[in-house]
Amino acid sequence: MSVATAPGTVSATSPAARNLLLLRIAAWTILGAPLAWGVYRWFWGDGFGFDPVEEMLHYSGLTAVWVLIASLAITPVRRWTGFNALQKIRRLTGLWAFAYATMHLSVYVTIDQWFDWVLIVEDLRERPFILSGSAALALMVPLAVTSTKGWIRRLGRRWVSLHRLVYLSAGLALLHFWWGQKADLRNAVIAAAVLAVLLGARVWWAVQKRRRAA
Ligand code: HEM
Repeated sequence: MSVATAPGTVSATSPAARNLLLLRIAAWTILGAPLAWGVYRWFWGDGFGFDPVEEMLHYSGLTAVWVLIASLAITPVRRWTGFNALQKIRRLTGLWAFAYATMHLSVYVTIDQWFDWVLIVEDLRERPFILSGSAALALMVPLAVTSTKGWIRRLGRRWVSLHRLVYLSAGLALLHFWWGQKADLRNAVIAAAVLAVLLGARVWWAVQKRRRAA
């Protein structure tokens, strides 16, 4: 029995719908894997080593940065490859980046500082890299809140301008990453280079668009 669909819509059993479902399953698997691996390490693995707090901050911070960069890479990769379905997992990737950054903050507030708010405020004042990490996360909050279809409709063109803040958030997160490194800057340099390429592509496309319109 065939199911009738309105023109322009995709039937739930069409190859396009199946491919989208597979893409969503792959995205959930890849994005959730660091969390699953972290849970495994804690309960059945090395328990995050000799210095679990330091290692958990390291692991959650690195995951947050790379998932955030992955969310920024979706539009450029879609344009370079023509794989348009990627756009359907952009919001999901951004929300996972926010979730990992929140887990990172939770490690800091709970088992690193033991909810000592005086110490936390002191840290904010004395270690500027903590301030830049906090600013990066604070900027992610309105982006996560307004990522729904309802908010996209309500904000119209302003939504696009607001969501450009994600680059500022990523820049602050990288500053935090860079500043917080004690010796090995390799990871921070690689992340900064990837972010520069993604930002460069955006600027290039914006310039091209303006030239075409002139
Ligand atoms: C309120 C917000 C935040 C706080 C309080 C915070 C706190 C910290 C602390 C205490 C460290 C450990 C530094 C050390 O080893 O001494 C750290 C490292 C790090 N954080 Fe954050 N962070 C915040 C937000 C973020 C955000 C939003 C990101 C990314 C999106 C991020 C990514 C990282 C990275 C990549 C590292 C370095 C990991 C390593 O190589 O050891 N942080 N953070």
